[in-house]
Amino acid sequence: MDKFRIHGPVRLEGTVRASGAKNAALPALAATLLTDEPVELHRMPYVQDIRTMCRLLEHLGWEASGNGDGVTLRRSDEESRAYDAPYELVKTMRASILVLGPQLARQGRAKVSLPGGCAIGNRPIEEHLKGMQALGAEVELEGGYVHARGPRLRGAKYRFGVPTVTGTENVMMAAVLAEGTTVLDNCAREAEIAALAGQLVAMGAKISGAGSETIEIEGVPQLHGARVEIIPDRIEAGTYLIAAGITRGDVTVEDARPGDLAPLAERLGEAGVEVEEVAGGMRARAGGKLKPSLVVTEPHPGFPTDLQAQFMALMTQAEGVSTVREFVFENRFQHVPELNRMGADIRIKNRTAKVRGKTPLSGARVMATDLRASASLVLAGLAARGTTVVDRIYHLDRGYESMESKLQSLGARVERFSGPEAA
Ligand code: EPU
Repeated sequence: MDKFRIHGPVRLEGTVRASGAKNAALPALAATLLTDEPVELHRMPYVQDIRTMCRLLEHLGWEASGNGDGVTLRRSDEESRAYDAPYELVKTMRASILVLGPQLARQGRAKVSLPGGCAIGNRPIEEHLKGMQALGAEVELEGGYVHARGPRLRGAKYRFGVPTVTGTENVMMAAVLAEGTTVLDNCAREAEIAALAGQLVAMGAKISGAGSETIEIEGVPQLHGARVEIIPDRIEAGTYLIAAGITRGDVTVEDARPGDLAPLAERLGEAGVEVEEVAGGMRARAGGKLKPSLVVTEPHPGFPTDLQAQFMALMTQAEGVSTVREFVFENRFQHVPELNRMGADIRIKNRTAKVRGKTPLSGARVMATDLRASASLVLAGLAARGTTVVDRIYHLDRGYESMESKLQSLGARVERFSGPEAA
């Protein structure tokens, strides 16, 4: 199993480019199921979750071919087509549920394994299903699978009980081919929603309001092929901006979009990390002492839960007590015991973590538990004195493209290795 060995502390300096966003690329891939024509997707991040989604699309009868960071999806011949998303694939990646909406819209039926538990929380999908039911689909849960049927979906009004990112994407994709107009309320507003809507519109859909609470979709009979560029990854970009802070460095992230990262930039600024918009990206610099902060994760435009673990690593280096409240997922503090093993002083009560700083961090052998928790441990390793070994890097590989080479280009001493070797 791959691991990272990190020698710290270091000061990061230089420029890295944000890769395409994993969480935009996943729905972009699922949306290719909505047409028989080829869809070309560019700036695809080379990460494990994308490979898993391509395998799922191949299972459903689509062919993925690509060169560089581009991939073209096209429908293959009739015989090889399946319509189910099997447990073996879905259990490795919950975002597989994103094929439900397009499959239902295009094939009139879909069978997708229920994703089951997840390290960061319960992660229900009932809002996806209710949205599809509102469009006239019959939905049953049987044998661990969602069975959805809807040969003739009709436009409808649906108000999400909670703003869900993949739920909004899924129902939007189901509605683009429905008869009549759909109005979705209390939609998630993350940048990835507007990006998906942009792709669907390029494929011939009629959508307005994506990125706001209310999305209106006028159904069309069919969609066509398109060429689409995936938006830059705001979470990856944010992780490198935080890395500048924790290493008292100076990092520019090319293609980081200030609008997508406003809540992070604000918290970093308060903490004493200078963040500025520069031509074509964002730059973060830190020199003096870091100040404590209050962070509450919320749906966009609140502070993103996907940056909470990384920000907490930074707060271990602030002078005073920081408060981090995780209100999106119920079990997203798994990095805390590992950070504490490195010397942090973090206590959790319910959904609140108190981080007492500044505590010196020292290198240790730590275990990654999910994607963003892994990133937090890497950041801590960069600031820690000595050698840190982060085990189970496969979590990181699900969503960060070439993290070790990007960090090396900023001056980090980090290497990947495999095997049982300890620090
Ligand atoms: N929720 C419900 N019912 C539902 C759906 C969601 O109660 O039917 C709740 C969840 O339990 C959670 C909240 O709504 O409390 C938000 O969950 P959401 O559905 O928005 O999460 P998601 O769509 O499953 C996406 C990202 C996550 C990211 C969250 C929140 C993708 C593929 N995944 O998940 O990304 O944390 O939105 O922003 O877009 C990651 O990249 O590390 C990651 C976990």
